[in-house]
Amino acid sequence: MTTSSASAIASRTDSEILDIERADLIPLYAKRDIALVRGDGAYLFDAAGNRYLDAMSNYGVAALGHAHPRFTAAMTDQLGLLTTGHQSFGSEVRAELLTEIAKIAPEGLDRSFLSNSGAEAVEAALKFAQATTGKQRLVAAKRGYHGRTLGALSATADKKYRDPFEPLPLPSVHVAWNSAEAIEAEIDDATAAIILEPIQGEGGIHVADPAYLKAVREIATRHNVLLIVDEIQSGFRTGAPFASVAAGIVPDIVVTAKAIANGFPIGLTLVNEAISASLPGGAHGSTFGGNPLACRAALETLRIFREDGLYDHAATLGTDIVSRIEALKNPGIRAVRGKGLMIGIELKQKSTPVLRGLQERGVLTLPAGTTVIRLLPPMIWQAAQVDELMTALEDVLS
Ligand SMILES: Cc1ncc(COP(=O)(O)O)c(C=O)c1O
Repeated sequence: MTTSSASAIASRTDSEILDIERADLIPLYAKRDIALVRGDGAYLFDAAGNRYLDAMSNYGVAALGHAHPRFTAAMTDQLGLLTTGHQSFGSEVRAELLTEIAKIAPEGLDRSFLSNSGAEAVEAALKFAQATTGKQRLVAAKRGYHGRTLGALSATADKKYRDPFEPLPLPSVHVAWNSAEAIEAEIDDATAAIILEPIQGEGGIHVADPAYLKAVREIATRHNVLLIVDEIQSGFRTGAPFASVAAGIVPDIVVTAKAIANGFPIGLTLVNEAISASLPGGAHGSTFGGNPLACRAALETLRIFREDGLYDHAATLGTDIVSRIEALKNPGIRAVRGKGLMIGIELKQKSTPVLRGLQERGVLTLPAGTTVIRLLPPMIWQAAQVDELMTALEDVLS
């Protein structure tokens, strides 16, 4: 808890809210003892009115922070215009979003499928890969995370998530990270696609070597399998719209979600003309996908990223954060990794006590694996927020 002058801002206390959730929700999540009630820029407030520095953007989604005035005004405007509209009808805001997406899409990935979440964007990619190649097998990476619906789970590596649901629908293999040879060795006649994150997020913030990505691109082309790049977490916050493009490759399919609409649910699957042309009408669909409110959220967010120079800002701020953490030379830190505002601090101990200590000092961060503290701050952070983070981090690690 951070402010001694906190006063309640909700009609129930944090523990009353959490008690109801614990009693009524299927207990799938480890709860963090506070209920978030309000957000303002880079800060979040719990029911008691305590203020927290947001260094996690709700798992990487609230890229513009909270209650961003321009974003809020656009959403309010759209609420009064039209919120729902199936894709069998046209929508001006959807058309404008597609025009904005075209400004940042990897070269040749000119066709979009709009859905409602990261896992859905991956599901679409896997279906499109199967429909295009007539094959199902996936070559993925150890520690890779692609979501938890059944298809996406086939690509996700962690046995903890997979084991209760075996056999999964798509055959897959998970090979050593950053090894193009390991990928090539696993490609066979049944392989539809290689699927990778350019920066592994849930797996502990591991940045792919650009040479590795280029070699994988070349292997996919040579063996005539598709390369699916999952930019659901790395998209927008790592110094460019897409980390894979910044590393010098053009995938066959790119999926993204999270930051693209500042926390409003949306998924985007980008494919090239050839893949698009191979899909029969009705091959996939979604009632909510591409709804006008979600499109407006993504449209305004992408415009703000571009017009406010937030890609470069994220890169600069991220470099500063990493070098300041390295300069601590704290014996408890094993390594600092990342790109832009996707940063992992690998500790020599379990991360949970440090995570809890940061929360007690008013800073919200995330774990990634058991020993990594993950930072996914909003892209509107300024130097003052970096200073606050550093003060809390130094304190908790000392
Ligand atoms: C790289 C990656 N892919 C897929 C997903 C799944 O996205 P969602 O939770 O929106 O279904 C995530 C979520 O953390 C992710 O980080």
